[in-house]
Amino acid sequence: MLRDLFPSIYSHASKPPLFEPGEPSFWDDSYISKSMLEAHLDQTHDGASRRTAEIEKMVSHLTISGFLKAGDRVLDLGCGPGLYSSKLCLEGMKVTGIDLSRKSVDYARTQAEKEQLDVDYICTDFFDIKYEGSFDAVLQVYGEICTFSDEKRDLLFNLVHRALKDNGIFIFDVSTRALRMREGLKNRWYVSEGGFWRPGRHLVLEEGFDYQENDTWLNQYIVVEENGMVKVYRLWLHDYSLDTISRALEQSGFKVEQAWNSLSGEPYTEDGDWIAVAARKV
Ligand SMILES: C[S@@+](CC[C@H](N)C(=O)[O-])C[C@H]1O[C@@H](n2cnc3c(N)ncnc32)[C@H](O)[C@@H]1O
Repeated sequence: MLRDLFPSIYSHASKPPLFEPGEPSFWDDSYISKSMLEAHLDQTHDGASRRTAEIEKMVSHLTISGFLKAGDRVLDLGCGPGLYSSKLCLEGMKVTGIDLSRKSVDYARTQAEKEQLDVDYICTDFFDIKYEGSFDAVLQVYGEICTFSDEKRDLLFNLVHRALKDNGIFIFDVSTRALRMREGLKNRWYVSEGGFWRPGRHLVLEEGFDYQENDTWLNQYIVVEENGMVKVYRLWLHDYSLDTISRALEQSGFKVEQAWNSLSGEPYTEDGDWIAVAARKV
């Protein structure tokens, strides 16, 4: 058995080329997306979404600072279970939330119905959006931009630019190398009787790879099932400095208007784990 498993595990043990994808169905796999939804809602950690108190601080900062206001049309890209969209709707905004995960969108819609909130949730790939001059603000929260190669990031920036009205605002956050250094490279294995990746017994081999020259980091998870099935999941993380993200935005027709260490308005410092940005369409 081990003799059969070894080649497929070994083939994933060396550093893959930059942004080589793993399993494509990471976000919308029917079992993993259920685990992911639980992680989004879990108030004991910030693994998939930030906790409610922090989200409330962020929404309150963005409205008090005037970047988002009642009456605005807001597009929340990668809205997950609607934790931000619902709060923005309560602040009087007309929100469209887009996410690839059917489980998260179903949850968001059910919550909106229960709370009688008029949020338009759409289950689709945000690379397929075709809006033109439709929104006052586009939001993309919790480092989603970091998961893209430069080419995909630029593609997304162009779609966001097109979706915004003239002078519209693009609000998002990206992680920095400081966060990566603090978290460190993954390097462990464990056996689970059922958990995040699979409902039944499985083995998980976690490994991290650093692509320092590209400011990129890979968290790789090799999942081995009892029946010998081996799958590799990859979470690519491209970190930014204020300089590198500002340059990328400028190339796509945005100008950074304000930067913080978090969307809750913590003042910007060079050594922060996160950079939150409000960039104006010019
Ligand atoms: C880190 S989570 C953040 C969710 C939400 N913004 C929050 O902070 O609560 C990233 C979200 O982006 C979604 N996502 C990833 N790639 C996507 C794509 N290409 N199109 C639409 N949604 C996507 C995932 O399903 C997931 O819900």
